[in-house]
Amino acid sequence: MAEDKTPRDAGPVADPSDTSRPEGSVQAEGAHVSGAPWRNFYGRFSGKTLKDSQRRYLAEDLADLSPGAVGWDENPDRTPLDLEALFGGRETWLEVGFGGGEHLVHQASSNPDVGIIGAEPFINGVAMLLGKIRKAGCDNIAVHPGDARDLMDVIPPQSIAKAFLLYPDPWPKTRHHRRRFVTQEHLEPLARCLKPGAIFRVATDIPDYVRQTLEEVPKAGFEWLASEAADWREPWEDWISTRYEQKGLREGRTPTYLTFRRLG
Ligand SMILES: C[S@@+](CC[C@H](N)C(=O)[O-])C[C@H]1O[C@@H](n2cnc3c(N)ncnc32)[C@H](O)[C@@H]1O
Repeated sequence: MAEDKTPRDAGPVADPSDTSRPEGSVQAEGAHVSGAPWRNFYGRFSGKTLKDSQRRYLAEDLADLSPGAVGWDENPDRTPLDLEALFGGRETWLEVGFGGGEHLVHQASSNPDVGIIGAEPFINGVAMLLGKIRKAGCDNIAVHPGDARDLMDVIPPQSIAKAFLLYPDPWPKTRHHRRRFVTQEHLEPLARCLKPGAIFRVATDIPDYVRQTLEEVPKAGFEWLASEAADWREPWEDWISTRYEQKGLREGRTPTYLTFRRLG
């Protein structure tokens, strides 16, 4: 579960490649000298001490997996990424908050004709993903080790054919619901990145998260594709269970699988 931190008390960002909010350079309330908007992030950037092997993966592999210039310091004009060059013209998918990366690597290995960009600010998760990519040997993954909002700024409009939001942080307290990913602050940029007809999958085991998803996602220009209960009770045919799903099942929660289509 994510812990509550504001940008001012979050301290130095543990992820060395996240240059979106360097320390001590806030220009004015709501803005950064690089021009970056002030974005609250309440999750964690790091956890347990990384293993030596994980440090090595980060040092050796992460830069080569970059989707391009995402951070505000390296790309203050927010020039869109060149996805054609990134994946050699392959269709592009997006996974937000990939955690340990099991689903991302599974989809990339099963779909070699697709390129997938993953965004995850938790550096321990990024390191786990890099280990899995080494094992699987897939060449169709790009990694943004940071906030999906910074990535979505520079994804060209209408360029993503499928997006995944799997077990997003639940933020159970009512006063924290506005921190959830299924708010217009996140959904509007996501909708802008998706092609008309693109698929957006959301998995969660928190009933109130289902409620908010079904209320908010259609407002951002999506239709829910469900005609019978099996459509949200049964996992997708190409599904692989994630770490958070496994944890939820152990704790007695019931997964819900929601599929939306981008209108337009
Ligand atoms: C509950 S975990 C689920 C991880 C994984 N999808 C799974 O099912 O095991 C939610 C993840 O979303 C990530 N996350 C939170 N806010 C994010 C953001 N703004 N952009 C990208 N990822 C984010 C967190 O760091 C965390 O790893």
